[in-house]
Amino acid sequence: MAKLIGGLGTSHIPAIGGAIHKGLQQDPYWKPFFDGFPPIRDWLGEKKPDVVVMFYNDHGLNFFLDKMPTFAVGAAPEYNNADEGWGIPTLPPFKGELDLSWHIINTLVEKEFDIVTCQEMLVDHACTLPLKLFWPEGDCPVTVVPVCINTVQFPLPKPGRVYALGKAVGEAIKSWDSSKTVAVIASGGLSHQLDGERAGFINKEFDLQFLDSLESNPEWITQFSVHELVEKTGTQGVELLMWVAMRGALAAAGGSKVRRVTGNYHIPISNTATAVLALETA
Ligand code: DHB
Ligand code: FE
Repeated sequence: MAKLIGGLGTSHIPAIGGAIHKGLQQDPYWKPFFDGFPPIRDWLGEKKPDVVVMFYNDHGLNFFLDKMPTFAVGAAPEYNNADEGWGIPTLPPFKGELDLSWHIINTLVEKEFDIVTCQEMLVDHACTLPLKLFWPEGDCPVTVVPVCINTVQFPLPKPGRVYALGKAVGEAIKSWDSSKTVAVIASGGLSHQLDGERAGFINKEFDLQFLDSLESNPEWITQFSVHELVEKTGTQGVELLMWVAMRGALAAAGGSKVRRVTGNYHIPISNTATAVLALETA
C-alpha cells in the first residue's frame, strides 16, 4: 500500500513567482520568507515523495463564478499553468497521477462527498507556487493530484466538513494499491484581506494559535463558522481551509499525533501573513 509521509503548507502569493523569476530570494524584503524553505527541502530530499496531493483554491481561472464546485478533484494526465500573468512566467505542465486521482474520487464518492471530477483542469499560482518553492531546481520530480476547495464564492464549506474531506483523502491515500510515497500539500493563507474596508487585515495571534493547533489539537478550528473565520482571518484568510484538509489527511494516516519538522511565519509579503510548515506522520 502507498505511504503518506507527511504534510506541507505554504502561502501562495503570486508575487512570490515574480521574486523567484527575478532571483530575489536574498533580497531583504524576500529573505525572511524564502529562508523558511531550505529545511523543508532537506526533509523532502530525505523522504523523496513520488506523488503529492495538493489542496488548493482556484482563483477564478478554472472555475468562474457561474460554475463553482465546493470540492473538485483533478483526474487529468497533466495540468497546465494558465495563471493571470503576474507570477512565474511560463512553466511546463505538471504530470498527473491518474490512478491515485481515480482512487481518491471513488473513495470520496463512496464516503458521500459529492465532488466534481475534472479530466481537464487549468491550474493557477495556488498550484504552481508550492511546487516551485518546494522543488526549485529543474523539472518537478513529483506527480500531482489537485484537490480544489472553494474559498472564492459563498457559500463556502465549513471547517469541519473540510477536515472530514481531508480525512477521506488520507484514507484513500492509505488504501491506494501502490508502492509509492505520497505527501499532502496545503496551499493558501494565512490571514489576509486583499480588498474592501479591511484591506491589509492580518491577525498574527489567531494565525499562530491555528498553526499550534495543527500539531496538537487539529479539530480546534472546527469550532468556528466560515463567517467567524472571515472575521478572524480576513476575506482571503479563509484559504487556511487548505491547511485544515491537509491536517485531516494526516489524521487519517497517523492518528492525532504528528511531528513538526520545521516551520516559518513572516509578516508581510504583499498584504498577507505568510507561513510555511512541514509535519511528519507519527
Ligand atoms: C495575494 C494573496 C493570495 O492568496 C492571492 O491568491 C493573490 C494575491 C497577495 O497577498 O497579494
Ligand atoms: Fe490566494
